[in-house]
Amino acid sequence: MGIVNVALGKRSYDIKIGTGLLYRLGAECAQLGLGTRCAIISDTNVAPRFGTTAQKALAKSGFAPALITIPAGETAKSLKTVEACYNQLAAQRLERKSFIVALGGGVVGDLAGFVAATYLRGLPFVQVPTTLLAQVDSSVGGKVGLNLKAGKNLVGAFHQPRLVLCDLRTLVPLPMREYRAGLAEVIKYGIIYDARLFQHLERDLPKLLRRDPRTLAAVVARCCEIKAEVVRQDETESGLRAILNFGHTIGHALEAISHYGRYLHGEAIAIGQVAAARLSTEILGLPAPDVDRIERIFQRAGLPTRLELNAPQRKKLLAAMQLDKKVSGGEVKFVLARGIGAVEFGQRVPMAAVERSLNPQPSTLDP
Ligand SMILES: NC(=O)c1ccc[n+]([C@@H]2O[C@H](COP(=O)([O-])OP(=O)(O)OC[C@H]3O[C@@H](n4cnc5c(N)ncnc54)[C@H](O)[C@@H]3O)[C@@H](O)[C@H]2O)c1
Ligand SMILES: [Zn+2]
Repeated sequence: MGIVNVALGKRSYDIKIGTGLLYRLGAECAQLGLGTRCAIISDTNVAPRFGTTAQKALAKSGFAPALITIPAGETAKSLKTVEACYNQLAAQRLERKSFIVALGGGVVGDLAGFVAATYLRGLPFVQVPTTLLAQVDSSVGGKVGLNLKAGKNLVGAFHQPRLVLCDLRTLVPLPMREYRAGLAEVIKYGIIYDARLFQHLERDLPKLLRRDPRTLAAVVARCCEIKAEVVRQDETESGLRAILNFGHTIGHALEAISHYGRYLHGEAIAIGQVAAARLSTEILGLPAPDVDRIERIFQRAGLPTRLELNAPQRKKLLAAMQLDKKVSGGEVKFVLARGIGAVEFGQRVPMAAVERSLNPQPSTLDP
């Protein structure tokens, strides 16, 4: 089992990574000094697969777990679902020492975390992420929240989990498209922080695509280490934590204009990261061969890297970018790369350059 500590003083916690850890959920929670009563929040895809195992594992260690199932999919990240969860927690008579287990992907993690942050003014919670994206990204760092009609993640809190349990075996039934989308965040860590990780990914991508357990264990652990280090330095995103948004300014806008239907988050940020790499060449001098390496690895992972946009669509995308909550003072700020493994945040970018990055000249990678 791999262990990564997120060092945040009194709010520190471990991320445990291994195979079959779900069976140890009760034993692990028993070490946290929590109350007996608890609720597992999961979704309609994950609960039938892993809900009973999680409940049994908790019961074996003396806990009394209720299972709350929310609909699968992004639309469940709503106030309506939050209210339904509150009502069920009240019916189960959860109390101040009770805790919540988020069993699922990023949607469940964000929503269950928000419920935990607010019910009875805050309950402890444990993350059991079951998508690659959730294991390497959303379950770590304490950002929890939900969507409004007006936009994604507009309501939320910082509420750190007490433990993150990444059971690699839960990734086995994950649909290939979702798995590839998680790889987009994995590759991001190489670009923003770790040139060696990027090289290893270039070398080991076929094994990773096969979900080879040893390769996966090492990669998930390294990504969690990087996220933990960034969050340790800047828990509430006043600076450095922004580097985690590499590729996300364009990616989020793309998700918004396609009404969160056409692209998975990972797919949108794959396109966004390649565009950000092109911008990086223009603004920070990222060598052109590095842009090609970046585009190539996303392509090999089976992710989209380019957009076919007509002029009105491009206009919409640029407008959506200016609505992003990361925008301040009317200027669009980007995370840009100086090299693979080294990025800078808060880079002001003229709109004309953004537009050029979305409409690149054919590259050497084209057939
Ligand atoms: N809090 C953060 O820091 C943070 C960071 C990144 C993303 N997010 C959020 O995460 C969400 C996306 O997370 P996601 O990509 O995990 O999406 P998701 O939770 O919707 O999961 C994707 C799909 O896979 C299904 N699924 C989950 N685990 C499975 C498994 N093991 N086997 C089979 N099916 C499974 C789900 O039911 C869903 O249909 C977004 O809402 C995003 O805003 C949050
Ligand atoms: Zn992301």
